[in-house]
Amino acid sequence: MLQNPHMNQVSETETSPQQRARDLLEQMTLDEKIGQLCQVNGGAHDLHDAVREGRIGSVLNEVHVDEVNELQRLAVEESRLGIPLLIGRDVIHGFKTIFPIPLGQAATWDRDAVRLGARIAATEAASSGVNWTFAPMIDITRDPRWGRIAESLGEDPVLCGELGAAMVQGFQGESLDNVHAIAACAKHFAGYGAVEGGLDYSTANIPEGELRNTYLPSFKAALDAGAVTFMASFSDLNGVPASGNEFLMKQVLREEWGFEGFVVSDWESIKELTVHGFAENDTHAALEAATAGVDMEMASTLYRDHLPELIESGRFNIEQLDAMVFNILKVKFELGLFEHAYTNPHDYPALVNEAHLKAARDTAAKSCVLLKNDNRVLPLDRGQLNSMTVIGPLADDGYEQLGTWIFDGESRHSRTCLQAIYDMVGDSVQVHWAPAMANSRCRDGGGFDEAIEAARQSDVAVMFLGEESILSGEAHCRAEIDLPGDQEKLVHAVAETGTPIVLVVLAGRPLTLGNIIDRVSAVLYAWHPGTMGGPAIADLLFGEESPSGKLPVTFPRMVGQIPIYYSRKNTGRPPSHDSITHIDDIDGKAPQTSLGMSAFHLDAGFTPQFHFGYGLSYTEFSYRDMVLSDHRVALGGSLRLSATVENTGEVAADEVVQLYIRDLVGNVTRPVKELKGFQRIHLAPGESRDVVFELHTDDLAFYDRRMERITEPGQFHAWIGSSSDPELWAEFEVTAE
Ligand code: NOJ
Repeated sequence: MLQNPHMNQVSETETSPQQRARDLLEQMTLDEKIGQLCQVNGGAHDLHDAVREGRIGSVLNEVHVDEVNELQRLAVEESRLGIPLLIGRDVIHGFKTIFPIPLGQAATWDRDAVRLGARIAATEAASSGVNWTFAPMIDITRDPRWGRIAESLGEDPVLCGELGAAMVQGFQGESLDNVHAIAACAKHFAGYGAVEGGLDYSTANIPEGELRNTYLPSFKAALDAGAVTFMASFSDLNGVPASGNEFLMKQVLREEWGFEGFVVSDWESIKELTVHGFAENDTHAALEAATAGVDMEMASTLYRDHLPELIESGRFNIEQLDAMVFNILKVKFELGLFEHAYTNPHDYPALVNEAHLKAARDTAAKSCVLLKNDNRVLPLDRGQLNSMTVIGPLADDGYEQLGTWIFDGESRHSRTCLQAIYDMVGDSVQVHWAPAMANSRCRDGGGFDEAIEAARQSDVAVMFLGEESILSGEAHCRAEIDLPGDQEKLVHAVAETGTPIVLVVLAGRPLTLGNIIDRVSAVLYAWHPGTMGGPAIADLLFGEESPSGKLPVTFPRMVGQIPIYYSRKNTGRPPSHDSITHIDDIDGKAPQTSLGMSAFHLDAGFTPQFHFGYGLSYTEFSYRDMVLSDHRVALGGSLRLSATVENTGEVAADEVVQLYIRDLVGNVTRPVKELKGFQRIHLAPGESRDVVFELHTDDLAFYDRRMERITEPGQFHAWIGSSSDPELWAEFEVTAE
């Protein structure tokens, strides 16, 4: 392998990355410094010369290992100071072996599975020379219209924070300078998931308390897990676009949290500061972003073009510039790039190997959420079943099951649901295959008759419906989130045959299923499950595995309920089942009154279709004996909360045991429930386990009216159970001393 000729000049292994970055900085010219702030797309015009001349610090979207090595060679051997490149890529839920979309991974509630998925993605990506991923995406979102909900880890700060941290650990491995590690990037800082109307790139207005209590904790968790880079969001936060937001990047990230890595802009998001109407021209935009704390510019070239004049005119100073360059160089040293800039693919396990596929299959199985299972239609019994019909455009589409953001995933590796069903049943069950529709958006009922006829003659119809991958992801938002195209019509038509329907939904977001939910016997929500989606789903359909996924996000009955999430505030008029009226029951002549009125929709009530944390199993779990180590805990102390969980059914299965609390009275109002812990356990039939949660009073802290993070003494409720509608309840008090 090629060697870095500058390695010996700068590599004193006992010297810290900080010191090495400082030493290197001293040798740099103004142009070389600004060069480190520039990230350009692979294949860009003039790229080789620019790298050779030290005008580039990072390249994104170049994954051909020979070209990556050539770029690194130009950087380390031909540029004056031999500074290696950061090679960035969106490795979001796998590189070649594609895992479920992040929202699906969140439905596993399994830190280990999520960490392993990121680890595998990192080794596969690193074998192409990638040393930096733009993940995890840890924007809290409560709006399924937003296409990027697919990339998110759901609505809850604790679930998102813990799984986001697991992703960071997986990408970065045990040591960042290992050749199998890649740098993680916590994105999009911050508030992007709260864009108005679920419309991508739109505005987010989030009061500071809500920002700190709900939207920022997952970023703090990623930082605590070691994330060395952050990405600024495209969106406008409270009138200040995130890419020019000093409060976020200087005050919170650097001063309050002590972040020592670097911040990258989003794609041209510095240039877009002028489009937002926040900067009057490109020079001003560069000044705002640099002053706010964006260290590296992705894609646009405002830093390159305007920092020299800003420095010359004294509007920006060299110390500020040095701080930005230092942050980037330090990460390059931490990654060990000065020691191993080059990539030898032979140093890595094969892409898409059996171990990777097995992990992808396990995670896909854990990510599926059983939402409904009337008359125990699932699991299907191969011994009893004579015939089945497989219907739907997503049953046999290796590409669509991969989901959004799969730059490097290839459908040729995918195992589809139809193939897996054939493999599972062999000759024992007659399988009819009738796609019925060309794609999920199709409004041509031409294939319906065949599907209906086949269903009529079968014991069960298994329908693979939902959304193709293009219907979610960046800039792919929807105003209606029903099953698109004529899929609902298809469900109704097949239901008319009287054959029980098992609906498997492949989608990048929660869909509103109210129009068809009563027409199907079972619903297995499989998200976009990735390369091994087919075998994972077949295992669940035929009972080789029990479903164990739990919803990481609330499912509305209808779009008008959005935002709907479990950790809502109580309001002054909380609804209850006996206090609500239905739109059909209103007497037109009734006088208007506010007596007895509460917070609900006349046409939707106040409950979701499916609540956060919900998910059925093929077995039953009983919860009993909730025990608290004490009913009083002094500030600074801890409580142990436990419950006994027993598998009272007939099959072995995983269960996700969840702990929630409510702070009854606060200096600012507190949510009616907040997730504080979760554990995935495995129980054989008849087996029981005491599940113990440790809760420190600091876990109860929140930002109050003065924006101080406090835990207030007072009364709390605690619940342990299988969802956000948990089985067991207790109370405790936090005391001042
Ligand atoms: C824009 C997206 O918002 C961001 O998440 C992604 O990492 C960059 N493009 C780079 O592809």
